Amino acid sequence: MPETSDISFISTSPENTRDLARAIAAFCSGGEVFLLDGDLGAGKTCFTQGLGAGLGVGEDITSPTFVLHCQYQGRLELNHIDAYRLEDDTHVEALGFDEFFADNNCVTVIEWPQMLEKILPMGCIHVYISSLSSNEREFKFSASAKPALDFISALGKNSDILKETATKE
Ligand SMILES: Nc1ncnc2c1ncn2[C@@H]1O[C@H](COP(=O)(O)OP(=O)(O)OP(=O)(O)O)[C@@H](O)[C@H]1O
Ligand SMILES: [Mg+2]
Repeated sequence: MPETSDISFISTSPENTRDLARAIAAFCSGGEVFLLDGDLGAGKTCFTQGLGAGLGVGEDITSPTFVLHCQYQGRLELNHIDAYRLEDDTHVEALGFDEFFADNNCVTVIEWPQMLEKILPMGCIHVYISSLSSNEREFKFSASAKPALDFISALGKNSDILKETATKE
C-alpha cells in the first residue's frame, strides 16, 4: 500500500482561495507538480492565480480559450497547463511537458490532469476541489509518493494558519 496523506481546507470566497494558494506558494522550492481536479468553475484557475502571486509572478494569470500552456516568471518559473481542450487521441508524449516535471526551477500546475495521465510523473500533489455552495470550495490535498508527501506534511504542520487564511471574512 502506498503511503497516503490528506489535508483539506474550506475556502469561503475566491479571494480566500487566492490567499490560500498564495500562502501555499511559500512552501514551493521547485519541482512541484500540482494536479487540480475539479468541475468547470471549481476554482482551478483562481487557485493558480494565487499560487502565481505567491511565487512573485507580476502578470495576470488567465485561462484564455484554446491556450494549452502559459509560462510565467516569478522566484520560480510557473508553468500553467490547461488540458481541457486536448482531444482523446492527442499524442501527449510529444507535447514536451515532461521537461517541466523534471525541472527543479519550476512549479507546474495542471487543470484537467486526467487528460495527461500517460505522462504524469510520480510524486505529484493532487488537489481535489469540490463546490460545497456558490462561494464555498473544499480543497483536498493528497499524495502517494515523495516529494509530494513531504510537501503535504509541511502544509499539515501549518494547517492552523492556512485554515484561517481560507475562511477569513
Ligand atoms: N471559494 C471560492 N474559490 C474559488 N472560486 C470561487 C469561490 N467561490 C466562488 N467562486 C467562483 O467560482 C469560479 C471559479 O472559476 P475558475 O475559473 O477558477 O474555475 P476553474 O476550475 O478554473 O474552471 P474551468 O474548468 O472552466 O477552467 C469563479 O467564478 C469564482 O468567482
Ligand atoms: Mg480554469
